[in-house]
Parts: sequence; structure tokens; C-alpha cells
Amino acid sequence: MKYSDECIFKGDRVITKAYAKVNLTLDVLSKRDDGYHELESVMQSVSLFDLIIIDKSDTIRVKTNLNHLPTNENNIAFKAAKLFFEKSGISGGASVLIHKNIPIGAGLGGGSSDGASTLIALNRLYGYPLTDDELFKLAAKVGADVPFCMLGSTALAGGIGEKLKKLSPCRGLNMLIVKPKVSISTPEIFKLIDSEPIKKHPNNEEMVAAIENGDIEKICANTLNVLRYATQRRCPQIGGIIAEMKKGGALCSEMTGSGSAVFGIFSSARDADECAKRFYSKYNDVYSVITV
Ligand code: C5P
Repeated sequence: MKYSDECIFKGDRVITKAYAKVNLTLDVLSKRDDGYHELESVMQSVSLFDLIIIDKSDTIRVKTNLNHLPTNENNIAFKAAKLFFEKSGISGGASVLIHKNIPIGAGLGGGSSDGASTLIALNRLYGYPLTDDELFKLAAKVGADVPFCMLGSTALAGGIGEKLKKLSPCRGLNMLIVKPKVSISTPEIFKLIDSEPIKKHPNNEEMVAAIENGDIEKICANTLNVLRYATQRRCPQIGGIIAEMKKGGALCSEMTGSGSAVFGIFSSARDADECAKRFYSKYNDVYSVITV
């Protein structure tokens, strides 16, 4: 597991990063009886992160730097901590302080990543009561994207997101991420796509081969997200951001997850930074990052 190496562990405190993800591809295969959708998606961690500080405590408490975020069981980190203590049988608690950098309602997996990092950090803080396998199973209960956020790097996700096949790490790609003001509710977008046929599916076989070969041109030729057209109806700026990214030198540009954030891949950090200038006056959430 990725994050266990990146924590600062101080006995009663763990300080850790929770990285955002992008979906290089996202395909929806079918709807299940429980309302979830079977997906196939190539997922990638990026260097945009929330910072999380977790201290041992008697009860579970969550605090964030954003006033409007829930700090009760509706917060994914809270839900993760609760499940951890239930499963491990430990009667302790944790104080979880989250400094959010990853925008909310963006399709960047910020909440899921906070949940994943909380599970990993608590397991370390309390002396590894759960095996990696148990922790992964718990992650799937916290949310569909949480297992990937726990694994990190590059992976092909199946099932509802919990079946993961690790791919060759696709590190060091320069990416620009821009999120329009509108935040997106994931269930709403999944409902919308039930009502219309998907016109074009990504070719995940080609994407996986491109990643295994480190072929950036082919990676860029294969980015495709079937949720984009549904989200664009809620947030028409997405099409404009994609067009602007391409005008500004992106090798490709696509929406991540259920949106509303858009990513573009660039030949260099300099190109990504230059393109970012096109967006600063219009959007608050503009991030030049690399894949990790
Ligand atoms: O698991 P998570 O809470 O992240 O999912 C949020 C919502 O997104 C689900 O309640 C469901 O409506 C939708 N979803 C889905 N199929 C997936 C993942 C999420 O329908 N594979």
C-alpha cells in the first residue's frame, strides 16, 4: 500500500497526504440491482492533496478548514474511522484534522482519499490490528473510490470501483486541472446516464497497453469519460474548458469522474503553467500538478 510509506509517524500522531485521483478513462457497463453501476476505469493519482493530521483520542472527532463540510458521519473520514474501530474492536477514538486542498464535487476523489488515508493512518497509529486485505475490504464499504485511493498510483478498476488491477505506474505526466464553480452530485449524474444510451465507449485495452508501454501519445488518444455528456448538461462550461485546454497546448483533455473538474495532459510543466494563465481570471480552482 502506497501511503503507509509517506506518513509521518510520531507515536500518538500520524501526518499524511491524501492524494486526488483522475479517471483517464471511465466506462459504465451496466446498472446493478442495488443501484450502483458496473464500471471500467483507468485511474491515476495526482499530486494535488489534502493534508490530514490524526491524533489518538477517546472519541471520533473530525475538523476541516472548510466551514460548510460535514464533520459527522456524513464526512467520509468519520465514516472510515467508525468502521475501523468497529472492525478492529479497539475502544479508542481519533481526532482527524483535514486541511482540504482538493475541491469538493469535482470528481477528484477528495473525500474518498481522506477516507482511505484515515484508514491507513489509524491502522498504523493503533499498531496494525487489521491486515492489508481487511483494510481493503473496509475501504470498499466506505465508498466505491476508496479502495483505489488506498492503492494509489495507476490501476484498472472494475466492479463498482473496488476490483483493482495495478498497472505500471504512470508517474510524471504534467497535468492541468480546472474545476468550474458548479459542484456535481455523483448520484445525480449516474441517474442521468441511465436514461440515455452511451454513444462512445473508451478502449480500455488500448489505454492499458499505452500505459504499460509508457506511450504518452496513445494515452492521450484514449482518454474518454462516458459521464461527460450527462455532466455537461448540468455544467455547460466543461466543453469550453476542454476546448480552451486544447487551444492552450494540451495533448488531450477530458473530465474526471462525474465532474465537474477537467484535466489536460501537457508535454511539460512549463506548458501546463502557461495554459493555466488562461483560466486564473475565470476560475478559482486551477492546479498545475503531476501524476504520482
Ligand atoms: O460509493 P460512493 O458513496 O462514492 O458513491 C456515490 C454514489 O455514486 C452512489 O450512491 C451511486 O449513486 C453512485 N455510484 C454508482 N456506481 C458506482 C459508483 C458510484 O452508481 N460504481
